[in-house]
Amino acid sequence: MKYPSKVKLVDVGPRDGLQNEKEPVPAAVKIELVHRLQDAGLTEVEVTSFVSPKWVPQMADAAQVMAGIRRKPGVRYSVLTPNMKGFEAALASRPDEIVVFAAASEAFSQRNINCSIADSMERFAPVVAAARAKGIYTRGAVSVAVGCPYQGEVSPDGVELVARLMKQIGVQHLGVADTIGTGTPRKVQAAMEAALRHYALDDISGHFHDTYGQALPNTLACLEMGIWQYDASVAGLGGCPYAKGATGNVATEDVVYMLHGMGIDTGIDLDLLVDAGKYISDFLGRRPNSRAATALLNKRVAA
Ligand code: HMG
Ligand code: MG
Repeated sequence: MKYPSKVKLVDVGPRDGLQNEKEPVPAAVKIELVHRLQDAGLTEVEVTSFVSPKWVPQMADAAQVMAGIRRKPGVRYSVLTPNMKGFEAALASRPDEIVVFAAASEAFSQRNINCSIADSMERFAPVVAAARAKGIYTRGAVSVAVGCPYQGEVSPDGVELVARLMKQIGVQHLGVADTIGTGTPRKVQAAMEAALRHYALDDISGHFHDTYGQALPNTLACLEMGIWQYDASVAGLGGCPYAKGATGNVATEDVVYMLHGMGIDTGIDLDLLVDAGKYISDFLGRRPNSRAATALLNKRVAA
C-alpha cells in the first residue's frame, strides 16, 4: 500500500469549530486562535463565514475577525460565502479562498441554506464566477455525503450529482463532508469515488466529523485512495447548527499524531498545535476533545 508522503491539513476550527458555540466568543479570541494555528505550522485556516447573523450568530463578527488577522506569508485564509451578499461582504477582507456549500440531500439543503440543491447552484454560480474573475480560489463543500440527519442514508449518487453540478459552475476544489460522522470507511470511499468522477485526486479533500469515532479510520481509508487533503478542527471543536447532535470535526491533533506516526509529513508542530487547542479549550472552559492532545497534556503534567 502506498500512502501519500505529504498531507495538507486545513484547520476549520475557527469556523466549523466555533460556529455552534452558544456563548459569544470574542473576535480577539478567534484572531488569537488563528495566530496560534499558523504559528503551529498550519498553512490553511478556514477563518469564518459570511452568512446571515440571524442563522449563525457566532459568525456575525466575520469582517472584524478577518481584519484582525496578522497575515503570515505562505498561509491561506478561507471563508464561507453562501450567496452574492456574503461574497460581497467577504471581498473587503481579501480571502484567499471562498467556500460555497451544498448538500447531497434535499432535506439538509433546505435546513442549512433554505433552498433546494438546484437553487443553491443558481446562487453559487455568480459567486464562483466573481471569485474566479478576481483570482480567488473556489472550493465547494458537499455536506451529508454519507448520512443525513433528516433523510438517513445518502447514496453516492447524491454526491455524484453535487460534484457534477459544482464542476459545471466552475468550482475548483471539492470537499466531501461527513457532516454527522455516521460514515464508515467503505461508505466514505464510495462517496469519494463518486466525487472522483468529476474531480481529480488533487482537487478533492475529506471533511469528517467524529460523532461516532470514525473520522480517523475514514481518513486512513481515503489516504489509501491517495487523497492527501483533509479538514480538521483543533481540539475537535465544533458541529453544525443544522445537524443536531453531531459533534466536531476530527481533532487536528489526532490526525497529525497519526500521520507523523506513519511518516507522513504535515509541516505542523504537534506541541504548538496542542498549545493552540489548549488555548481555545481553556477559553471555552473544557478539555480538548482530542485523545492525542489529552495524552500529551497529561504527559507534560507528569514530566
Ligand atoms: P435566506 O433567509 O434564505 O436568505 O438565507 P434571503 O436571501 O431570503 O435573506 C434573508 C435575510 O438574510 C435578509 O436580511 C438578508 O439580507 C440576509 P433581512 O432583510 O431579513 O434583514 N442575508 C444575509 N446576511 C448576511 N450574510 C449573508 C446573507 N444572505 C442573506 N450572506 C442563507 C439564506 C444561506 C443566507 C441562510 O440560510 C444562512 O445564512 N444559512 C447559514 C448556513 C450556515 O452557515 N451553516 C453552517 C455552515 S455549513 C457547515 O457547517 C457544513 C460544512 O462544515 C461541511 C459539513 O460538515 O457538512 C461546510
Ligand atoms: Mg463541517
